[in-house]
Amino acid sequence: MTTNTNQNTAADARVAIVTGGSRGIGRAVAQKLAEDGLAVVVNYARGAAAADETVAAITEAGGRAVAVQADVAEEKEVAALFDRAEADFGGVDVVVNAAGRMTLSPIADLDLAALDAMHRTNIRGTFVVAQQAARRLRPGGSFIGFSTSVVGAQFPTYGAYAASKGAVEAMTMILARELRGRDITVNTVAPGPTATDLFLDGKTPEQIDRLAKTPPLERLGTPEDIAAVVAFLGSPAGHWVNGQVLRANGGLV
Ligand SMILES: NC(=O)c1ccc[n+]([C@@H]2O[C@H](COP(=O)([O-])OP(=O)(O)OC[C@H]3O[C@@H](n4cnc5c(N)ncnc54)[C@H](OP(=O)(O)O)[C@@H]3O)[C@@H](O)[C@H]2O)c1
Repeated sequence: MTTNTNQNTAADARVAIVTGGSRGIGRAVAQKLAEDGLAVVVNYARGAAAADETVAAITEAGGRAVAVQADVAEEKEVAALFDRAEADFGGVDVVVNAAGRMTLSPIADLDLAALDAMHRTNIRGTFVVAQQAARRLRPGGSFIGFSTSVVGAQFPTYGAYAASKGAVEAMTMILARELRGRDITVNTVAPGPTATDLFLDGKTPEQIDRLAKTPPLERLGTPEDIAAVVAFLGSPAGHWVNGQVLRANGGLV
């Protein structure tokens, strides 16, 4: 567990947990929420150094953050993650489950161990984080999960990954309804191709260029594009949006 708590505290600030906050979209979300004045718990699985960099970027900009290791699929580790948010910052108001994995393969060829590992993080991980969020979010709070626009675009080789994210979409309105009366929103953001390791790794420049040109806006998304959407959904301004899957993809599908 890595700790870099900035002591410049503000007792009444809202508090966010961002899983997968060490890199990619999660990092941009953590930085944007900190910029908006929230104290942020930056979760990671293996990359302590990357998580420390996210925390350093936030604290250097005057925000408050702490890095906490936890595998999102491990119930005790996720409970401890929420414990840290409550102990260090006083509660939890926004939970963003950005942690995710992607393995691409034609369905006919997919290694089932890879399927299980991906589904463990993407489905069980979402479930475990959502359970803790449902138990612990304060009134006025928000849970934001992550799907993918490939659930709609249905590109070959994305079968197992899209299936895992279809499960996240299926949970969204159900959890929103289960939280009736708590003043807590539940939404899922489904990005299109976004320039992070998860998207770029293993693709040729030609494949990247072709996918970048697919949406009408003719470019890849940036982590900051997605962070702006997440920050809106987690803010009081976005609180009337509930139970929705929001495709943020430049108009892909
Ligand atoms: N990039 C895209 O084009 C795109 C498009 C649609 C949807 N998405 C979704 O957006 C989310 C963020 O993706 P990204 O592109 O930012 O990915 P990324 O750059 O690969 O970053 C993934 C993050 O998730 C963390 N992580 C992975 N497994 C974890 C686990 N079991 N427990 C806790 N943390 C874990 C990683 O931490 P460590 O490094 O410590 O392992 C890292 O911080 C994912 O859910 C992804 O499926 C991405």
